[in-house]
Amino acid sequence: MDTPTPLVAGNWKMNGTSDQITEFKKLVQLLSGNSSAQCQVAICPPFTLIAALAAEGAESVHVGAQDCHAELSGAHTGDISAAMVADAGAKFIIVGHSERRADHEEGSELIRAKAQAVYKAGVTAIVCVGETESERDAGKTEDVVLGQLLISLPDDATSTNTVVGYEPVWAIGTGKTPTVADVAEIHTAIRGALVERFGDDGHMLRIIYGGSVKPSNAKELMTAENVDGALVGGASLKAQDFNGIIEAYRA
Ligand code: 13P
Repeated sequence: MDTPTPLVAGNWKMNGTSDQITEFKKLVQLLSGNSSAQCQVAICPPFTLIAALAAEGAESVHVGAQDCHAELSGAHTGDISAAMVADAGAKFIIVGHSERRADHEEGSELIRAKAQAVYKAGVTAIVCVGETESERDAGKTEDVVLGQLLISLPDDATSTNTVVGYEPVWAIGTGKTPTVADVAEIHTAIRGALVERFGDDGHMLRIIYGGSVKPSNAKELMTAENVDGALVGGASLKAQDFNGIIEAYRA
């Protein structure tokens, strides 16, 4: 059976002004200087840098966005639509990141509407799910994650228009990570749910892991069963570190 091409995506979050473009350029250089990685690479900068990064025209690094509105245009002062970021050069849009769920009280119904807007704009949604520490301690990880997934993913999700990002909230920015066995267990449960819902295409839908991924743990985490790449926060801000994570996909 075919296996999905892994995706290593950097999420710069609310970090980076024009100075940060230098790190993007360094990353492009590092990727061209090394033996080619067997994965897709993307950087999701703040909205303000999407056009500038896309203008670099790098073939080895796609540009993405971190969020979008559920409508493609209209009277929504201060919001940005999927069509706008696609026009600026984004190929991926993260929706449902736990920081948006927490900071802006975004629920899974809204995330699904945003994912549908991403499809309409013709780009790929990275739909994020993940449990909190107390949910994990209460043994509810699988229920929470599969519950979020069921509602957040539109019925017309495919392996082309969607990537699932599993990010345990307690592992984000904390330096803590689940064990490889724990990651494999939940990714395998997610895979089962995807195959049950989407048939064979569920095998090709990428499930990427996020939460304190670093060069030192990337190889181990990326070899876990049903892990098809990484969603990287802090360590994506420095080209050298991010390249060290991509290293997990070099022969
Ligand atoms: P860190 O890699 O900084 O833990 O962040 C993960 C994340 O939230 C990526 O979306």
